[in-house]
Amino acid sequence: MSILVTGGLGYIGSHTVVELLNNNFEVVIVDDLSNSEKFILDNIEEITGKRPIFYPFDLKRKELLEQVFDAHHVEGCINFAAYKAVGESMVKPLDYYENNLFSLINVLQEFKKRNISNFIFSSSCTVYGQADEMPIDENTPLKEAESSYGKTKQMGEDILKDFSKAYHKKVCLLRYFNPIGAHPTALLGELPSGIPNNLVPYVTQTAAGIREKLSIWGDDYPTEDGTAIRDYIYVVDLAKAHVAALQKLINTENETALDIYNLGTGTGSSVLEVVKAFEVANDVNVPYQICPRREGDITIAYANADKAERELNWKSETPLEEALKTTWEWQKYLRSRDL
Ligand code: UFG
Repeated sequence: MSILVTGGLGYIGSHTVVELLNNNFEVVIVDDLSNSEKFILDNIEEITGKRPIFYPFDLKRKELLEQVFDAHHVEGCINFAAYKAVGESMVKPLDYYENNLFSLINVLQEFKKRNISNFIFSSSCTVYGQADEMPIDENTPLKEAESSYGKTKQMGEDILKDFSKAYHKKVCLLRYFNPIGAHPTALLGELPSGIPNNLVPYVTQTAAGIREKLSIWGDDYPTEDGTAIRDYIYVVDLAKAHVAALQKLINTENETALDIYNLGTGTGSSVLEVVKAFEVANDVNVPYQICPRREGDITIAYANADKAERELNWKSETPLEEALKTTWEWQKYLRSRDL
């Protein structure tokens, strides 16, 4: 069965492609390389022994997308292609709406036209905003996202709900918490593009001496050590959830199935805990300084992922320290390639 993976050379996309290939799906990747590199395709092949079909273009180019659907018997899609930098989205909102939503709609138009079902959407826990109660389950009320990036995720979810209902399509929305780590082979991971915004890439680059010091954004949150709490989920565990969600969609007879799952570990870790865990796991030092809070940050978010365990038979398995070890190995690999 052929699955279209948009953004399949990106961070979560590439790990998911590996899991799909390991589960005998055929994979067609469309990725415009705007935040990924072509060598990832070679590395996917090195890991799996299979080379996915790859088209390098922007999904806003409808005529090229049509040709992909003409050439392959696509029977499902996992949609990763999107811009994802929260801060950047606030200064370039139109780029975010245009890129994230038009690309999505173009793929959905093809699904509608060709009567294809089984669509998985990369959503985010950002749709919950600062929830009133922890842990966050799928029934936790949504709050208007603070960033334009977050709004594209909320709008994407709404578009897919309507799409499923109106055209009788099987859809799954996966709400990721904070993905971290790299493939155990150290051949896939998050690629640095400029100064990292996210915690773990910044910690890693600081340990590697690329950055002088980590800035910890705020130690006056109402948490035990004063730093903000998130649910850090290992990217390979996350990738496996996509395969489980896809298999469930394929097997369901309900033509308007709309599944929603939180994908997290169920445990919150503070910024300081992550820094310490990284130091211990990798026997390195991470210099840091405490700075004022970052605008738009919430205090705490961690998942109740019981629904995914119940319905997908999936749960996060990899402890934080182990995930942080893979990040360090990936950093060494990048250095060995001068990246
Ligand atoms: N942090 C620092 N210093 C840094 C980077 C981050 O202290 O250099 C802190 C942040 O203030 C936050 C925590 O580390 O408390 C995690 O920050 P990240 O940027 O790694 O992750 P966020 O939780 O802010 O954002 C993530 C995803 C977004 C998504 C959001 C939903 O990156 O795509 O979760 O809450 F929208």
